[in-house]
Amino acid sequence: MPIITAPHEFNEAELYVDLRSIVGDSLFLKCEGFNFAGSIKLKAATEMVEAAERDGILTPSSILIESSSGNLGVALSMLAASKGYKFVCVTDSRCNPSSRLLMEALGSEVHIIEEPADIGGLLGARINYVQACLEADDRYVWLNQYSNPGNWRAHHRTTAPSIASQFPELDVLFVGAGTTGTLMGCARYFKQWHRPVKIVAIDSVGSSTFGTKPGRRMIPGLGTSVRPPLLDESYVDDVVHVEEADTIRACHLLARSGFVFGGSTGTVVSGAMDWLARHPAARRTAVALAPDLGERYLNTVYRSNWIQDCYGEEVLDCVANMTRAEAGRQRSNGSSVDWPVSSSDQPPMLAALGDAGSEACIDVQPPLSIGSGSAGHG
Ligand SMILES: Cc1ncc(COP(=O)(O)O)c(C=O)c1O
Repeated sequence: MPIITAPHEFNEAELYVDLRSIVGDSLFLKCEGFNFAGSIKLKAATEMVEAAERDGILTPSSILIESSSGNLGVALSMLAASKGYKFVCVTDSRCNPSSRLLMEALGSEVHIIEEPADIGGLLGARINYVQACLEADDRYVWLNQYSNPGNWRAHHRTTAPSIASQFPELDVLFVGAGTTGTLMGCARYFKQWHRPVKIVAIDSVGSSTFGTKPGRRMIPGLGTSVRPPLLDESYVDDVVHVEEADTIRACHLLARSGFVFGGSTGTVVSGAMDWLARHPAARRTAVALAPDLGERYLNTVYRSNWIQDCYGEEVLDCVANMTRAEAGRQRSNGSSVDWPVSSSDQPPMLAALGDAGSEACIDVQPPLSIGSGSAGHG
C-alpha cells in the first residue's frame, strides 16, 4: 500500500496495455499518465526542480517561471504547491482550458500571451516574456525544458530502466518526440544495454524536429518548429512521421476498446503500427510510451465538431466504419482484430480506411519558429 506525503512521490511505473487485440501486432503500451500531474512530464519537472535545488539555483525566495502549453506547467504547478515555491506559467491562447484551470487550482499564476511576436509567433512572444521577467527581477528561475539536461536524465534514470527490467528481451521502443527529453533519455540508456534495441522516434507531420518542413499542427505534445537542442540523432535508429488525421483515428480506435489516451499517444500508436507493418518479424518485443490520458483532450481530439473542422467530416466516419467492420470480423471468427497490413508504404490504419486517410486540413494558425511549434508541448 503506497502512502505518500507529497504528490510527486507517487507514479505508476509498471502499467502496460497489451495492444495486440486492438492493433493486431504485438505492442505493449507503457502508461505514463497515472500520477497526480497526469502525465510523463512529472518526471522531467521533478528532475529539473530537484537538480536546481541541489545546485542552489532554486531557493525559498525563488519564483519559478516556465513557458508551457500544458503538461509541464501542470507538473511544475503541482511541485511548486507541494514545495512552497511561487510558479508563473507563461502560455498562450491555445493552452488547453482544463490545464490552465488545474494550474490555477494549484495556486500558480498563468500568464496568457495574446499577441504573437514578429519572430517566433506566439511561442516567440512567450519566450520574450520569460526573458523580460528574468531581466526585471532576479528572483525568477527559468528551468528551460528545451535545453535542461534534467529533462532527458529523468528518463535515463527512471523510464528506461523500468522498461528494461520488465522487458529483458526488448527489441524495439517507440517514443514520441517533443522536447526529445523522453526520447534522448531512453535512447542513451538502451544504446549501452546488454542487447541491441531499435529506438524509433515518432513525430508529427508538420514538425521540423528531424529536418522536415514545418507545417500546421493542432495536437499538443509532439513536434517542434526548430530542432530541439536536446536532440542527438546518432542515438535514433528510425523516425516515423504521423499525419494528425491518423493520430485522431488511433485515439478513437483505442477509445472504442475503453482506453481514452491523450493525443500524442494516438500519434505514437499510429506510428508504431506503421513501423511494425513495414518491418514484419516472427517474434518481437515492442514497447511504446503513452505520455498521458485523454481527459485533457475531450474538447479537441474527442470532440466531433473540432475533428471535423480540423480534419474534415470523413475522419470519424471512417473510424466508425472500420471498427464496425473489424468488430463484425472479430465476432464472426471469434478471434481478436486482425489489423490489415498494407502492401505499400501506406500506414496500416490508412490502408484499412481507404483514401479518407489523406484528408486535407484547414489552415487555422501559422507555424511558429521557436520551440514547441504550432501546437506546443509540455
Ligand atoms: C502529451 C505529451 N506527449 C509527449 C510529450 C513529449 O515529451 P518530450 O518533451 O519528453 O519529448 C509531451 C511533452 O510535453 C507531452 O506533453
